[in-house]
Amino acid sequence: MNLAELAFVPNSLHKLPYKGRDTRGPGELDEVSEKNKSEKNKSEQNKPAQWNLAGQVALVSGASQGIGRAVAQKMVRAGAEVVLLSRNSSALEELAKELAKELAHGSGGPALFSPRVFAQDLSDLEGLEQGLEALISELGKPIGIYVANSGGPPSGPLTEAPAEHFEQALRSHVLAPQLIVQKLLPGMRAQGWGRVINVISTSVKTPLPNLGVSNTIRAAVASWAKTLAGELGVYGITVNNVLPGYTATERLSSLMQAAAQRQGLTTEQVEQQWKKNVPMGRFAEPEEVAEAVVFLASQASGYINGINLPVDGGRTACL
Ligand SMILES: NC(=O)c1ccc[n+]([C@@H]2O[C@H](COP(=O)([O-])OP(=O)(O)OC[C@H]3O[C@@H](n4cnc5c(N)ncnc54)[C@H](OP(=O)(O)O)[C@@H]3O)[C@@H](O)[C@H]2O)c1
Repeated sequence: MNLAELAFVPNSLHKLPYKGRDTRGPGELDEVSEKNKSEKNKSEQNKPAQWNLAGQVALVSGASQGIGRAVAQKMVRAGAEVVLLSRNSSALEELAKELAKELAHGSGGPALFSPRVFAQDLSDLEGLEQGLEALISELGKPIGIYVANSGGPPSGPLTEAPAEHFEQALRSHVLAPQLIVQKLLPGMRAQGWGRVINVISTSVKTPLPNLGVSNTIRAAVASWAKTLAGELGVYGITVNNVLPGYTATERLSSLMQAAAQRQGLTTEQVEQQWKKNVPMGRFAEPEEVAEAVVFLASQASGYINGINLPVDGGRTACL
């Protein structure tokens, strides 16, 4: 048994007794209060272990750059065996090599595992299905964590959006995750534990101007996720959404360029305008969004299910 297997026993997780419930008689309480204190201290000390993903396999889509890349990096560092999915195979190979080197360096010997590359266009559902079946049978163990992430739909006024933009986004953001969940579900159910985390947008709370296709599709994803959370909780599987605010990635740069063109401004002027919308006065780093994803993937988030978690520096102006 390797270290990773020792550190994580997913089968038993959702069956653990609820530790906050006290079933002891009144006379017993004083006697054990000191013991409780020291147990609480111990559990505080154990916090990092609760964030540990060792022994789990995670499929991260949209992993070649931006938020997905940062998620993949953080999950590898948290001990998960990660499968990297996106279209650009050479970028994924490069990242896999980088991470394998980091793992080997960290262990002082050969890496226990190397990240796998799954080069696939999410909008090609037939190819995705075949690729997933091959991946699952090659792995020979369940994929317990699925991070559903992809590129955002094109921006612009909704009245000008062609049907193809909706169709493409529906395939990549709704139909592909639906297919992936269906394929991963038997494994998650068998191990009695699973995590589905969707990287969507704060537009599920307040639709954003000039992102009509995105607003429409994100609402569908949020509704899909909430329904799924209701269906899967009983198996120890949680489904949650992370809602990034402005995050410094290629996507944000291209949105700023498009906004600058529409408004006759420079990209720097748009950047300054947008930063003023954020109480924290800055954009997020992809790693800051990834941290929330790793938390939702970990044991530490055990009873959190069906939520939308904004990581937006306080920008979203609603409760
Ligand atoms: N950045 C922000 O400010 C921000 C804010 C709110 C919401 N979001 C949302 O968060 C998500 C991630 O954002 P990001 O900024 O990290 O985006 P990004 O930098 O554009 O990265 C998108 C990732 O998705 C992959 N991808 C795109 N289309 C794909 C497809 N059809 N099949 C498979 N992989 C595909 C890309 O890789 P390949 O090219 O290799 O396929 C890339 O790895 C997006 O949905 C975005 O709209 C971002």
